Amino acid sequence: MKTIDLIIVGFGNIGRGLVSSIIENSPEIGSKGFKIKVVAVCEAKGSIVDSNGIDLKKLLEGKVKWGDEKTLEVIKSTPADMVLELTPGNIKTGEPGLSHMITALESKKHVVTSNKSPLVVGYRRLLDLASKNDLKLRYEATVGGAIPVISCCERELAGNRIKNIYGIFNGTTNYILTKMDEEGVDFESALAEAKESGYAETDPTYDISGIDTASKVLILGNALMNLDIALKDLEVSGIEKITSEAMDVAKKYGYTIKLIGDVGKREVAPRLVPLDHPLNVGGSLNAILIETDLAGELTIIGKGAGAKETSSALLSDVLSIAGN
Ligand SMILES: NC(=O)c1ccc[n+]([C@@H]2O[C@H](COP(=O)([O-])OP(=O)(O)OC[C@H]3O[C@@H](n4cnc5c(N)ncnc54)[C@H](OP(=O)(O)O)[C@@H]3O)[C@@H](O)[C@H]2O)c1
Repeated sequence: MKTIDLIIVGFGNIGRGLVSSIIENSPEIGSKGFKIKVVAVCEAKGSIVDSNGIDLKKLLEGKVKWGDEKTLEVIKSTPADMVLELTPGNIKTGEPGLSHMITALESKKHVVTSNKSPLVVGYRRLLDLASKNDLKLRYEATVGGAIPVISCCERELAGNRIKNIYGIFNGTTNYILTKMDEEGVDFESALAEAKESGYAETDPTYDISGIDTASKVLILGNALMNLDIALKDLEVSGIEKITSEAMDVAKKYGYTIKLIGDVGKREVAPRLVPLDHPLNVGGSLNAILIETDLAGELTIIGKGAGAKETSSALLSDVLSIAGN
């Protein structure tokens, strides 16, 4: 059994979900020949470091004492195989995640992340740094939550030319548009309901305006289609102006309206989608269509967010790095 030593940076919704999954799925992780040992956990307020491995049950129960060591210092000075970067990021600066990732790679640790912003701001820089140090940077959890779109394109579709990737990359907007379509309610009421039921954040601006989807389009384009694009290269419009009347007209002619991110067209916009199209998925689901030269078209549908679902992608990246 090989032990993987992890530093977890960011112990919020996703960090806690990951730790729960490490505990619950330790038999599955063990069956792949690995044991995960968490040697440090960092939050903005402080850190816990234990080279023998933190007691994860006690950590979740809040029974472990936090120290005041700063995140960058912990990343630099704690021996570990990988850093899991799970903090919220600033889309303009990539911080604090960008500095966490740079420090991890400079101190010879692989990086796995669910945080889009550092990749939006500094993808090439991070990739070059990883490659210079013979390390891996993996980010499956940044796009489509549980949907394994990056590993599918890189591994299962290796040898194919990826001609385009487009689809629904944001669960909040899909939830709102589905409500409008199925219940005939207007945008404001659907948004209010999405907030009430926890499908939209208190401030859903990035989701509604298409910026969250654009970040994912950028990551996929740079990672899988060899583009070198920044947010400013994308044409982005959101769903704020969709009316219930527009939705009714679409329906009358056999369509619905979805917010579609399209890597090839470098665009995020509401589009008419035929009712029988594979991208017509309801609720908060994500659906990603991959166009290839050899395999043709594939559509993957799944949950685009959630602590458990995101930990599926994080664990997959951790085990794939450890397996190599
Ligand atoms: N939620 C989802 O379903 C989902 C899905 C896919 C990807 N993501 C992405 O995953 C990341 C984490 O999301 P989340 O929902 O877990 O966020 P969250 O609940 O807000 O938790 C964020 C955590 O990061 C910590 N943090 C902030 N600044 C830090 C710093 N400088 N050093 C160390 N820790 C720091 C916070 O610590 P304090 O509490 O001390 O401030 C908190 O523990 C985000 O980038 C998000 O976009 C989320």
